[in-house]
Amino acid sequence: MLDYHENPETLHVNTLPTRAYCIPYHDWQSAVRGERGASQRMLYLGGLWDFAYYPSYAAMPDTVEYAGSIPVPSVWQTQGYDRHQYTNVRYPFPYDPPFLPAENPVGAYRRTFTLRKRDGFLYQLHFEGVDSCLYLYVNGAFAGFSQVSHSTSAFDITDWVSDGENTLEVRVLKWCFGSYLEDQDKFRMSGIFRDVYILERPEAHVENVRIRTALTGTAAAEIAVTLNVTDERLDPTLTLIAPDGSRLMKRKASDGTVLQVGDPMLWTAETPALYTLVIQTDAEVIAQRIGIREVRVENGVVLLNGKPVKFRGVNRHDSDPVTGYAISPEQLVRDLRVMKRHNINAIRTSHYPNAPWMPELCDRYGFYLISESDIEAHGTVMLYGCGDMNLKQKFSIVPRSPMFQEAILDRVQRNVLRDENRPCILLWSLGNEAGFGPAFEKAGRWVKDYDPTRLCHYEGMFYAQEDSDTSMLDVVSRMYPSLREITAYFEEKQDSRPLVLCEYIHAMGNGPGDAQEYQKLIDRYPGFCGGFVWEFCDHAVDAGGSAEGKRKYHYGGDSGETLHDGNFCVDGLTYPNRRPHTGFLEYKNVVRPLRARLIPADGVTVELSNRMDFLYADEYADLRYELVHNGRIAAEGKLALAHIPPHGSAEVRIPVVAPDGGAVLLNLFYRTVSEHPLVPAGHELGFDQLTLREARVAPELPERQAGTLILEETETQFLIQGERFAYRFSKLSGLFEGMVFDGRERLSAPMEYNIWRAPADNDRYIRPEWEGAGFHEAQTRANGASAVLKSGAVIIAVHVVLAAVYRQWIVKIGAEFTVDPGGAIAMRLTVEKNADMPFLPRFGVRLFLPKDCCRAAYYGFGPTESYADKRHGTRLGLFHTTAAENHEDYIKPQENGSHHGCDFVTVTEARGAGLCVRSDTPFSMNLSPYTQEELTAKPHNYELVQSEHTVLCADYWQSGLGSNSCGPELLPGYRLSETRFAFSLRIDPTG
Ligand code: GAL
Ligand code: MG
Repeated sequence: MLDYHENPETLHVNTLPTRAYCIPYHDWQSAVRGERGASQRMLYLGGLWDFAYYPSYAAMPDTVEYAGSIPVPSVWQTQGYDRHQYTNVRYPFPYDPPFLPAENPVGAYRRTFTLRKRDGFLYQLHFEGVDSCLYLYVNGAFAGFSQVSHSTSAFDITDWVSDGENTLEVRVLKWCFGSYLEDQDKFRMSGIFRDVYILERPEAHVENVRIRTALTGTAAAEIAVTLNVTDERLDPTLTLIAPDGSRLMKRKASDGTVLQVGDPMLWTAETPALYTLVIQTDAEVIAQRIGIREVRVENGVVLLNGKPVKFRGVNRHDSDPVTGYAISPEQLVRDLRVMKRHNINAIRTSHYPNAPWMPELCDRYGFYLISESDIEAHGTVMLYGCGDMNLKQKFSIVPRSPMFQEAILDRVQRNVLRDENRPCILLWSLGNEAGFGPAFEKAGRWVKDYDPTRLCHYEGMFYAQEDSDTSMLDVVSRMYPSLREITAYFEEKQDSRPLVLCEYIHAMGNGPGDAQEYQKLIDRYPGFCGGFVWEFCDHAVDAGGSAEGKRKYHYGGDSGETLHDGNFCVDGLTYPNRRPHTGFLEYKNVVRPLRARLIPADGVTVELSNRMDFLYADEYADLRYELVHNGRIAAEGKLALAHIPPHGSAEVRIPVVAPDGGAVLLNLFYRTVSEHPLVPAGHELGFDQLTLREARVAPELPERQAGTLILEETETQFLIQGERFAYRFSKLSGLFEGMVFDGRERLSAPMEYNIWRAPADNDRYIRPEWEGAGFHEAQTRANGASAVLKSGAVIIAVHVVLAAVYRQWIVKIGAEFTVDPGGAIAMRLTVEKNADMPFLPRFGVRLFLPKDCCRAAYYGFGPTESYADKRHGTRLGLFHTTAAENHEDYIKPQENGSHHGCDFVTVTEARGAGLCVRSDTPFSMNLSPYTQEELTAKPHNYELVQSEHTVLCADYWQSGLGSNSCGPELLPGYRLSETRFAFSLRIDPTG
């Protein structure tokens, strides 16, 4: 039994050297078109292969019995073999490199294919991605071995194949030595998960093409082409085609391979102009797209084509709830479409190279890439003990160990060598979270030496130690720093290199709440070239449909695995099916390309600034405006934009006149003016909302006849009776427990004081504090309730204390209620919060309304959920919703559906009977078919059971969300930590 997979000295056996990805074609047209499926020189080997799964490579029989079949590409775990396991940092096997457990599962693959073998041609078998390693057998003979899941492994199989039918067998092991370098935070899947094909090449062929572009003047560029040929006599013809399809030049390679281009169209993500270089020999044609562009750092600023650029990036994994790691170009394009439509301009291929056609698509559609090498190894931080090693050393065990030196360099080289011709790649990344040490110094030096035309990035520089050299890294890369750390970086000039956040605003669950705060700093410091949200999409496994027709998404622990990291993989800007989370709407608008600011002038004038790096405003957007008066549109129209240069601004007069009285808002919506392959014309890029006059907006309520009130008192209640109503106030809870109006009970259960929320993922570190203080089980105790009839109204006063068993008081409330003869209740709460207690999730009252009372109109931040720190994707307005629609269905249930900054909310049944809640200070409201207890208790959305009531919360304030699931603590300004505050609410029955 071969054991290369446990030997750090045999990373690959018989593999071809890594070459720039390109597919040979038989003719010019198909080469230029570049649809590889149409190449007669490619024999695609995807489809159903014979398959056998064995739980242990060591114990597999000599003769494999191919009892089953499996699609290639795919992963075992989605095909009924092995099982899913999600783990983040911890290695799913004992740390004993280079060895793996004896129970190392193996998938044996087999397929036959017919080859018309031609003399004078070579046959190269390519695997674009196999997790974790492969033993290759051709016609029964061992032909090679390779390990590195996310880079190409290619073999010259000419000598093994013959004309006619041939058989390939591949043994794929679940784990290999390389798995120690593939400890990425992901579901751990196995198999041939990317394409497999044979390329037919003439013996004399262009082995490698290397393209470098440089700007040589203000209107001139140079394309340097380096060709490696297998036969010195080969003199290929080079033809350069302009982005518009015209032929610019044609020459023999021997006449020079440095091509001068006058007036070049430069490539940027905003202007992805691509030239095509066609390389022709007698026997084949290959083509490469070329983007002319130049990236460099000058004075601590990242410049593209001489202009500063900022990344509005996301981290993206190859991940799909149904197909796992096996991703088709269509699936990728779907991702790119969602990204483009949300103003994303950059992707970090976390944490490995994607399929080779991925950067090609990014070239075409316009995305910047940080292309990451297939390395992550911080599982070592979980090792037991380790003497007096500090954290940095523990983090860096792998890159400091001699055993891993070669493999780390190999992985970095494979990344660079395969994709070096792709203009979209601005930075090479040495990997992720693998500490720092000589292996990375060496790999980084190699990168800078081999490709000085790009920048070099590595997050692990954070773990550099006193004896480390990080000079080969062009940017300082950090993940999840606090705002304070960023400010210190620039203000204290800690490093002269640009700062990039390779990960920030962890998008897990309801959040992130701090996008806008980071953006302010990105805008403030020229050296801050932006960041990459962690991460693009939720990872989960589609486990079929639920009885109610929901998708059942499984995360860590749902597949019977004992070692797992729960729902930490469900942390994207989109759900697994790519439906954007509200956090993505937030981010989209935070990074909108246009911004408006009201400026003092006659009439309504705004200063519009263009945040694009290359496009003029009128080249991509126009503007639609709405003048909103007390929640209703009073005027609207469209405007073309001026020729505002990138990073420039201009004054724009909006032809509206603010009406007298009340709240007046100006909404400006920016929309695309032309079609992009991924974005239609008229698509909204973002909006601004400017306040022309601030005022509270009141609901429309009928005037009520005054009448006389009767007040009665029992041992536990005050009973207040008016002409149309009968209310019951509990002297024990200090709140109303019944409100019958026009014969209809408006409260289906007693009102409550409320300080709890279903913890959001971003509450994971504060939650133990909250629970320690007993917030989740606080009891209400009212004292000294009194009621009087005064000037025709009933006035109730009461003292209330909230406290949990065995713990001291949390809040003390002095409450006063006035019930007027029309049936309105005005309540005024004077609140004292115990300073010893952690900040509160919220403070307010909770109302239970009859189930059919579920239609709401509110004036506040909407239409999607909004929080103190997550409201930039929403705007102030009058919105309509229902309890069901207002629920944001996070895969792991948590607080959702609140609306910040409300003036009022009216919730009614179909005929209009219900309640209206308002306040003279903006409050947070939440309407849900679920209780916060239910949302707290259930691990999956498909397990949720609706409450028998409609649940309405009106909060003085709800604490923000932040991104503390992995990022810094919630900013103090967004915590409810005031020790004294007052809250008034007015409740009117409606209908
Ligand atoms: C980072 C890591 C990512 C992911 C994230 C948390 O530390 O690089 O791969 O694990 O944290 O979701
Ligand atoms: Mg990690």
